[in-house]
Amino acid sequence: MKIALTVNGEPHEADIWAGESLLTTLRDTLGLPGSKNACEQGECGSCSVLLDGELVCACLVLAAQADGHAVTSVEGLRANGELHPVQRAFVEAGAVQCGFCTPGLVVATAALLERVPTPSDDEIREALSGNLCRCTGYAKIFEAVRLAAQP
Ligand code: FES
Ligand code: FES
Repeated sequence: MKIALTVNGEPHEADIWAGESLLTTLRDTLGLPGSKNACEQGECGSCSVLLDGELVCACLVLAAQADGHAVTSVEGLRANGELHPVQRAFVEAGAVQCGFCTPGLVVATAALLERVPTPSDDEIREALSGNLCRCTGYAKIFEAVRLAAQP
């Protein structure tokens, strides 16, 4: 089946299998490997993207459901060649180790700060509860979120 969607502000068309996930379409058809494929079961958050501004796991969304909609992946957070403030904060806070969880965490954090510009620790914990990191112990990730949230 054919779908048409906007990804990171650009219109795209794709010829997909009806059961294909949005994550597969992003990575394999549209050449956007930033969203990671770890569990493919909605457990880890490494595939987090925004669908019409809402945070979703791209592995749980059918590409067909994105037909006619707008997707933002981690690649789309940069503006004018500059890293998004959340991306900069993750680097500055040393919140990236293997980096596998980082794209999903960056997208989830950007979505949180869009909604709640200065979140409490509980709000950060709640917002990032769907994003698993096996490396950092989360302290540096929290530091990065607080850094990005600074006015
Ligand atoms: S790959 Fe989608 S939640 Fe893990
Ligand atoms: S930095 Fe390795 S999983 Fe998070």
